[in-house]
Amino acid sequence: MLQKGTDRLMIIDTHAHYDDEQFDPDREELLGSMKDGGIGLIVNAGSTIESWGKILELTETYEFLYGAIGIHPDEAGSLDEESFRRMSSLLDREKIVAVGEIGLDYYWDKESHDLQKKWMIRQLELAREKNLPVIIHSREAAADTMEIMKEYAAGMTAVIHCYSYSAEMAREYVKMGYYIGVGGVVTFKNAKKLKQVVETVPLTAIVLETDCPYLAPVPYRGKRNSSLYLPYVAEEIAAIKGVTAEAVIRQTEANARRLYRLPDHQGEK
Ligand code: NI
Repeated sequence: MLQKGTDRLMIIDTHAHYDDEQFDPDREELLGSMKDGGIGLIVNAGSTIESWGKILELTETYEFLYGAIGIHPDEAGSLDEESFRRMSSLLDREKIVAVGEIGLDYYWDKESHDLQKKWMIRQLELAREKNLPVIIHSREAAADTMEIMKEYAAGMTAVIHCYSYSAEMAREYVKMGYYIGVGGVVTFKNAKKLKQVVETVPLTAIVLETDCPYLAPVPYRGKRNSSLYLPYVAEEIAAIKGVTAEAVIRQTEANARRLYRLPDHQGEK
């Protein structure tokens, strides 16, 4: 494994959900152990309207924790003009660094495709207006997502989080200047497609993420995930790329800072 606590080595988790109730029993203890576990910075993504208040609280409590505010496609039906205005004002907060997670989910298909598209586009337009990057969630909606990103997000900064499509499409996204979010799934034996994606796209376009409490890497697959398991993801990417895990951590840290425009070495005082 990695040498923990090495001076300059800092893992950035670009996508976590510490507002989730699965962390209620031990959130404080867990977040308090991040620095010793080599996790230097975490961006907590928004999902529901209820998540927003919890995310603000977390960003106020933990120096190393930043937030994104947005509505997950499964929750698109809960948005209206009033909550959209609230979202807009929350995006002006200093530690809110992105709009997200937003997008399309045709797997769970909880809301109509038209409604999902409508709010994805509105949130993309809001991100452009605020000059913020976006976190894209897309599941079984490859073609529609690409179409909307081309039409509404050209020139913007984005990460395609928990990337699950082809290597060819990943290349196209990278050409558009976007980042590819890679998490625990890459360690699964049956994740041939994602391993191929990692092999294909340059390391300069990859960011580490957990999506915790979901998608824990092997050997914790099926258990509650946390940022502390990201070394397993870095090790797997390193093995695929034929580089050291340290090189993966250094490059993905730089990528994450570019993606979210984070200050250098925040929290390394
Ligand atoms: Ni997520």
